[in-house]
Amino acid sequence: MTLDGKSVVITGAATGIGRGITECVVKAGARVTLVGRREEPLRDLADRYGPAVAYVAQDVSAPGAAERIVATAADRFGGVDAVVNNAGLARFGRLDESDPALFDAMFAVNVRAPAELVRRALPHLRARRGSVVNISSVGAVLSMPGRSFYGATKAALNSLTRSLARELAPDVRVNAIMPGPVDTPMWNETGLDEAATERLRVDLRSSTPMGRFGEDTEIGRWVCMLLDPESSGWVTGALIPVDGGRTA
Ligand SMILES: NC(=O)c1ccc[n+]([C@@H]2O[C@H](COP(=O)([O-])OP(=O)(O)OC[C@H]3O[C@@H](n4cnc5c(N)ncnc54)[C@H](OP(=O)(O)O)[C@@H]3O)[C@@H](O)[C@H]2O)c1
Repeated sequence: MTLDGKSVVITGAATGIGRGITECVVKAGARVTLVGRREEPLRDLADRYGPAVAYVAQDVSAPGAAERIVATAADRFGGVDAVVNNAGLARFGRLDESDPALFDAMFAVNVRAPAELVRRALPHLRARRGSVVNISSVGAVLSMPGRSFYGATKAALNSLTRSLARELAPDVRVNAIMPGPVDTPMWNETGLDEAATERLRVDLRSSTPMGRFGEDTEIGRWVCMLLDPESSGWVTGALIPVDGGRTA
């Protein structure tokens, strides 16, 4: 598997699953533009990986974000071969306890921002017969009591993935990975209290046939494979569960 010299944009790149994706993509020889809101973790990764890595401290849902991200990748690495839409917002709660503004906020980060980033990168992606990978969730296809808003945004991301795969073929491939539970900082920021989070973690572990959470690198390697035309040149519109069997 090689991504030698390709210019890859990764959002939410510095922690959790994004970090696992970054590790694989850099090791495969790509030049990478990392995106996240906080500068420090991005700078730490850029220092670690050297000149093959640039970063943009940017909220992906802010006006003009996609333009700035694509401009940085184009300035530093001459264009964009691939976009990995990984940044995500997960806020849990039952419908009658949830603020509708949360739905808008999740939709903005989980659906609108990925679409806008692909739109802005499209001239580059088309010219280079590039590729997009969206990080969805098993929540897109499972029923999600207590997490309905989040699940709905990921279902929308799946829909976007499949429609764009047809719309942009044969120039640009568009796929999604649906991770099962992975131990990341996300689990401390869902809005649930500590006891409810622990109950959910126990429930997720017991309902996952492989009996454990996944590792960020286990998602990262699948992203690398989808980006690599030698491995996946005939794969587009795929929604791939990498989930320890949770959707089996
Ligand atoms: N962990 C799981 O069990 C799991 C399962 C299925 C799917 N997923 C999906 O996997 C993706 C990564 O999540 P994770 O679990 O790795 O969580 P995480 O560690 O919290 O990572 C999220 C990353 O996205 C960045 N980010 C968040 N909002 C952003 C915004 N508005 N603009 C730019 N960057 C933003 C964060 O950095 P800053 O805070 O610095 O912005 C952070 O690096 C998400 O799409 C999530 O829905 C996770």
